[in-house]
Amino acid sequence: MDIIDYYKWRYATKKFNPHKKIPISDIEIIKESIRLAPTSYGLQLFKVIIIENQLKKEALRKFSYNQSQVSDASHLFIFCNSTKVFEKDIDSYIENKSLSQEIPIEKNKGYGDFLKKTLLNKSSKEISEWTKNQLYIALTHLMTACASLKIDSCPIEGFDTSKYNDFLDIDKKSLSAGVVAAIGYRSETDNSQYDKKVRKATKDIFEID
Ligand SMILES: Cc1cc2nc3c(=O)[nH]c(=O)nc-3n(C[C@H](O)[C@H](O)[C@H](O)COP(=O)(O)O)c2cc1C
Repeated sequence: MDIIDYYKWRYATKKFNPHKKIPISDIEIIKESIRLAPTSYGLQLFKVIIIENQLKKEALRKFSYNQSQVSDASHLFIFCNSTKVFEKDIDSYIENKSLSQEIPIEKNKGYGDFLKKTLLNKSSKEISEWTKNQLYIALTHLMTACASLKIDSCPIEGFDTSKYNDFLDIDKKSLSAGVVAAIGYRSETDNSQYDKKVRKATKDIFEID
């Protein structure tokens, strides 16, 4: 299958088989696809909380408009964006960059100072908008990785953010739940798997100038 086949194969799964679990080796590949997602300045200002506990999934379903995907999927990946940038976020990025690229840390100091000047005075609203946008790139990596592994997924924005944040107790970590991916295996009885894709024609999306 080529990449277009994967995009045609995947669909927003409405009904998962609750008995089929994703093997850990595939979960590791999906995690790696998220880890490799690009982010602004490379800062990776997000965390992903993976829920596999059935009771927790059932509790979260209540805060997700009772969508069955939340409790029936094998795993929930909750993408949480940072609501603040701290000096230590930038320092640890600079340290990681220096180590990974084998560059003396003094050579990256100027870049670190630039990032601090640019980011540390921004409001929580500005930071949250900026970091939340980046979750969607990581989400896309997950969905593509899943499709390549024949794992089904449903991206989910239909949930109550503040109830998720309280349940996960992540306010204190300056994190907020931004978007969720329910992943697992489609139920044979999910009729939406047979729906034709609804997409605009290519000519209605692209303009050549
Ligand atoms: C950011 C985002 C949020 C979504 N939220 C939900 C959701 O809460 N529940 C749901 O059933 N589908 C959700 N969807 C799925 C879309 O409705 C679906 O992707 C779209 O209709 C196209 O269909 P397809 O993915 O099956 O090709 C979401 C999709 C995206 C990209």
